[in-house]
Amino acid sequence: QSFFKPIHGASPQPHTTRTTKISVIGVGNVGMAIAQTILTQDLADEIALVDVNHDKLRGEMLDLQHAAAFLPRTTISASVDYSSTVDSDLVIVTAGARQLPGESRLNLLQRNVSLFSKIIPPLSAGSPEAVMLIVSNPVDVLTYVAWKLSGLPANRVIGSGTNLDSSRFRFLIADHLDVNAHDVQAYIMGEHGDSSVALWSSISVGGVPILSFLDRQQIAYEKQTLERIHKEVVQGAYEVIGLKGYTSWAIGYSVANLARTILRDQRKVHPVSVLAKGFYGIDGGEVFLSLPTQLGRNGVMGVTSLHLTEEESQQLQKSAITILEVQSQLGI
Ligand code: NAI
Ligand code: LAC
Repeated sequence: QSFFKPIHGASPQPHTTRTTKISVIGVGNVGMAIAQTILTQDLADEIALVDVNHDKLRGEMLDLQHAAAFLPRTTISASVDYSSTVDSDLVIVTAGARQLPGESRLNLLQRNVSLFSKIIPPLSAGSPEAVMLIVSNPVDVLTYVAWKLSGLPANRVIGSGTNLDSSRFRFLIADHLDVNAHDVQAYIMGEHGDSSVALWSSISVGGVPILSFLDRQQIAYEKQTLERIHKEVVQGAYEVIGLKGYTSWAIGYSVANLARTILRDQRKVHPVSVLAKGFYGIDGGEVFLSLPTQLGRNGVMGVTSLHLTEEESQQLQKSAITILEVQSQLGI
């Protein structure tokens, strides 16, 4: 019996609409920043939270449910059981160890690879049509591991990659030039980490290539200014981790930004970690790195072919080799 009295002649049959389901694996700092942003931006009809920590799971679910009066109606579930993720449209994986102050992302590899061997197979078995979005670090290698363990096609296994680094880069450039970060088109490519590559030659501000923009504005800059900005991007996470113990808000917005592009089939270009073999001269093996990639409802639609300077191309190759060397230790 419905709470509300039906109008005369109403059809008793409920209309079965296609609902959108997102599963978030890991309800730590990052998983909850992502879940909260997805909720606020009304990106899903259902959010399934999964973790190994029962109390944390239930506490986070209740705390979000208690905000229902301020949020779009969204079903929120929480379970240690992966069956709760069945038929997800998007599975976001944030479970795993995080860096301690000063620790590199690559240091997390062994702990998180063994964790992935347990959690990835049930996720893809329960949602064989889903797009899998990896966030746990080291994200590029773990996206490769998730691709191998899940059996999903490469276009539907994506790492958040340098979507976050590129936002940090755009912020720093916008701050330096006193413009809006939305008007700064800039990509960081390669490893989400210490060997990332700043594509200075393809950066534009309000549609104007940055290097000629700086010349035309007579803004004095030396190469070291540009390198300083990229260094701040690379050091960004270490600084935040050193100050607050982890990063969460920027990655939360970054992943929700990707979720919207995928679930709403926006066909936008994002720098995300994809199977890079065969692009930009990367042919040393099956490696996931961030390249400017068009994303839609079925994941990767295609990779753009930007013009790279010789230096940028060499740096990208170096980034690929760094990841492949780490990957070769896995024996996967
Ligand atoms: P956290 O320690 O706050 O949360 C990790 C969560 O994983 C915990 O709730 C823990 O119970 C859960 N977990 C552990 N084993 C699990 C299992 N077998 N199944 C399900 N859940 C499990 O860590 P935080 O800060 O949320 O970071 C999570 C990961 O995200 C780390 O690897 C971190 O490096 C990474 N990260 C990646 C970023 C990126 O740009 N790709 C940015 C920020 C963090
Ligand atoms: C970042 C690290 C934690 O925030 O991957 O970039």
